Amino acid sequence: ALVSTKEILKDAYENHYAIGAFGAHNLEIMKGIISGAEMMDTPVILQTTPGTINYVGIRFLRAIAEEMAAVSKVPVALHLDHGNSFDIVMKCLRSGYTSVMIDGSHLSFNDNVALVKRVVDAANPIGVPVEAELGTIGGVEDDLTVDESLATYTDPVAAEMFISETKVDSFAPAFGTAHGMYKREPKLRLDILEEIYNRTNCPLVMHGASGIPDSSLQNALKFGIAKVNFSTELKVVFAKELRNYLFDNPGQDDPRKYFLPAQEAVKNLVMNKIGLLQKKVYA
Ligand code: 13P
Ligand code: ZN
Ligand code: NA
Repeated sequence: ALVSTKEILKDAYENHYAIGAFGAHNLEIMKGIISGAEMMDTPVILQTTPGTINYVGIRFLRAIAEEMAAVSKVPVALHLDHGNSFDIVMKCLRSGYTSVMIDGSHLSFNDNVALVKRVVDAANPIGVPVEAELGTIGGVEDDLTVDESLATYTDPVAAEMFISETKVDSFAPAFGTAHGMYKREPKLRLDILEEIYNRTNCPLVMHGASGIPDSSLQNALKFGIAKVNFSTELKVVFAKELRNYLFDNPGQDDPRKYFLPAQEAVKNLVMNKIGLLQKKVYA
């Protein structure tokens, strides 16, 4: 069965490693993610945005994830990524998601808190943990575009208040990462992350991990990051392998053949990323 993210993130937080959470866009990518995690023998989070739910259909996503979890050698969670309304969260809870994010980061502090509280009140009684975000993470995710110059870092004092008022299970701060690949190397504000880590006692989530150099990623793990979100890099390797394969094999029109190298590329990327998250780095 699908597992909750509550225990796996708690263990990661306490033991200074992180769980990979990967954007799952179709059957082949989902298979690639799970086989990568199986090779590394770690729990894994499949996550879908509202856009992916719209594309695949929530019942199909949930059914595929559930059946993959049933035969997987590792624990698998199904998480709503960047849930943009109370309604979509309710749909996911009813459908059987085992973790949700409500993203009220575009709202005022008070409105964000109020929305997250409503979601926590609905989700926690049925055992589903909630992730929330404060501050704004730049870049493009689904229909959401945040100009990187307008992205604002999370204020650590506000983060402390936000977490204690909402009682969220995990918290996504904005400390310089952005969705998508980077035009230039991102400048991560590890000082902000460290202060948030020192003031709180809540697993932290790193968004926008695609394109972050391995060493910066591992540096951030010192400060309470228990979940790391990867989406764009999976899409990039999947499309690249698919394009190459079809270019090299113009006569191939069998999806049971031409998706395989793309799926394999996702698996290899996932193994590589999980490997980075497992290394225990101590502050
Ligand atoms: P990337 O697309 O940069 O990997 O960001 C993923 C993410 O944060 C999903 O919530
Ligand atoms: Zn994100
Ligand atoms: Na990114």
